[in-house]
Amino acid sequence: MNHDNLEEYRDADTYDFINGGFEIGGNFYLNLAREYGSPILEIACGTGRITVPMAEQGYNITGVDITQEMLEAARQKATHHGVSVKWVHGDARNLELQRTYRMIFTTGNSFQAFLDRHSQERLLLTVHKHLDSNGVFAFETRNPIMSQLSTSNGKEEDAGAYVNKEGRTVFVTERCLYDHRTQLEHYVTRRRWKTKSSAEESAETRIAIRYVFPQELEALLHYNGFYLEQMYGNFDLSPFQSDSPLMVCVCRKRPI
Ligand SMILES: C[S@@+](CC[C@H](N)C(=O)[O-])C[C@H]1O[C@@H](n2cnc3c(N)ncnc32)[C@H](O)[C@@H]1O
Repeated sequence: MNHDNLEEYRDADTYDFINGGFEIGGNFYLNLAREYGSPILEIACGTGRITVPMAEQGYNITGVDITQEMLEAARQKATHHGVSVKWVHGDARNLELQRTYRMIFTTGNSFQAFLDRHSQERLLLTVHKHLDSNGVFAFETRNPIMSQLSTSNGKEEDAGAYVNKEGRTVFVTERCLYDHRTQLEHYVTRRRWKTKSSAEESAETRIAIRYVFPQELEALLHYNGFYLEQMYGNFDLSPFQSDSPLMVCVCRKRPI
């Protein structure tokens, strides 16, 4: 892979515009916060989609992200909503905040941004180091359903359209290829729109996401110091099944 895998996050406005608000996963993580309390650490917090609403609910929360553009958007959002959040620009694989938290979470399927076992283990070590001994670590990752992984096989396919902030219709196509050897799904997304003067504009981004299989995930957590207390199949707390869309994990710390 010859890119930094962050191209999708350089345009934070588009990210927010497409990925919406608190509704995806927000209540699930908020309910855990109600149970465990502050302080909370959100890893790969992006534009503060969940961080800011949690701060509005009175939680003491820190958001960490590697992409400056996403963090800047998060900062502006917090200011706009009049809430205080501690923002940290950093790499979750290599983080030292010199304190511990009652709850650590990562959402928006950010777990899939850690592309190989080494990165996943560095992330888990960061979590382990920063989690209170009776705290909770929660995250979700997409369930790798074999029949759904990259059915397009690298062909360019229509991925819909949306109207951007300037009122222009943006047409999106995607090329997606799943490599089972690495368990990486590679996406090339092309967005096309017309400017005011009717000139054609386009932008291309590339991203890879890593899939983990259910038993692999359980082993990864086990060998990196976590008990997997619950694995749900979605944010509605439905039990995990072979065809569930997500693996929503609630973990406790195990001594290592
Ligand atoms: C899909 S977005 C999710 C953002 C946010 N959690 C949400 O739910 O909207 C993934 C985020 O992970 C961040 N990220 C990727 N690798 C990271 C790393 N090694 N350390 C910290 N953040 C990382 C990206 O910058 C991006 O903001």
